[in-house]
Amino acid sequence: MGVVASAPAKVILFGEHFVVYGEPAIVLAIDKRAYANVESRKDKRLYMRSANLNLSGCFENGILRIEQGDAKEAKSRFEPVKLAVDKILEKYGERVGLNIEINSTVPVAAGLGSSAAVAAAVAAAVGELVGVKMTKEDILRVSFEAEKTVHGTPSGIDPAIATFGGALLFQTDTGFKPLEVSMDIPLIIGNTGVERSTRLQVEKVRNLREKHSQIVDHIMWAAREVVLRAVDALKENDLETLGELMNINHALLYGVGVSDESLEWLINAARKAGALGAKLTGAGGGGCMIALSKNEKLEDILEAIQRAGGRPFVARKTDEGVRIEQN
Ligand code: PMV
Repeated sequence: MGVVASAPAKVILFGEHFVVYGEPAIVLAIDKRAYANVESRKDKRLYMRSANLNLSGCFENGILRIEQGDAKEAKSRFEPVKLAVDKILEKYGERVGLNIEINSTVPVAAGLGSSAAVAAAVAAAVGELVGVKMTKEDILRVSFEAEKTVHGTPSGIDPAIATFGGALLFQTDTGFKPLEVSMDIPLIIGNTGVERSTRLQVEKVRNLREKHSQIVDHIMWAAREVVLRAVDALKENDLETLGELMNINHALLYGVGVSDESLEWLINAARKAGALGAKLTGAGGGGCMIALSKNEKLEDILEAIQRAGGRPFVARKTDEGVRIEQN
């Protein structure tokens, strides 16, 4: 019998992109999770399989041999996981063979933090299996290391929310602060299905900021104000205001050029169907949008996003960060 651990995906509710320049952002863990099932092997190999992506392969002496799926994709998914495993086995002090099976309900490459959720789940499961005591801070450190190989210079939002769950206020100079959110936040996530690169979108904003610094700085300050007001609205259980702030935040993101046609279609469809607010989430240029809804409007908005060509699903906040499911 193996050990199963899981960790949640995330959405950025407010403040993406501007967070790169030191402004605050709000991120929420959602009830879509990545699961890792880890068991030991008799040999020293590290075998990995991703059930959803139809990928499998085996690391032998550090070299990945693909058994199933596209080599490039397997490498990009499995290398960070291997790094997380290596870090824990280093602590354990002995190289052991493992079978790692990943099952995830998180759409990949859509800005929902799937790679960080997988890394956190694997780190927790491997630690538990070999008996290395892992605090949440340890799991965060390991999954942040893994995330660096995926994104280059990530802000660390994804590993933090995958580890701790709930809602976090994040700022580069002060780090993470948990936000007490007692209300239900009915969200619909609409996946445009358009692949995008976080790196390119971040670069786009950087170029625009260099060219029009006076203007873009004002947009950033407005975004900061949006986030600060959103913190209050979350405390006051004020969904209407949150919706308005989402619309304003989207307008600011549109202003710095990171929306695209696929996102605009879904956002407009959601608003027309009665969303309290809608915005892109994450890097933009495709990927996902989110719509805030009253419970009674969820169905209408789901349908509208679907009709507009998106892949929608309902998401709720989860307070559960990384956890052991079965031992
Ligand atoms: O990779 P995504 O879609 O979760 O978005 C990253 C968020 C940015 O603010 C655009 C970049 C960052 O590192 O914070």
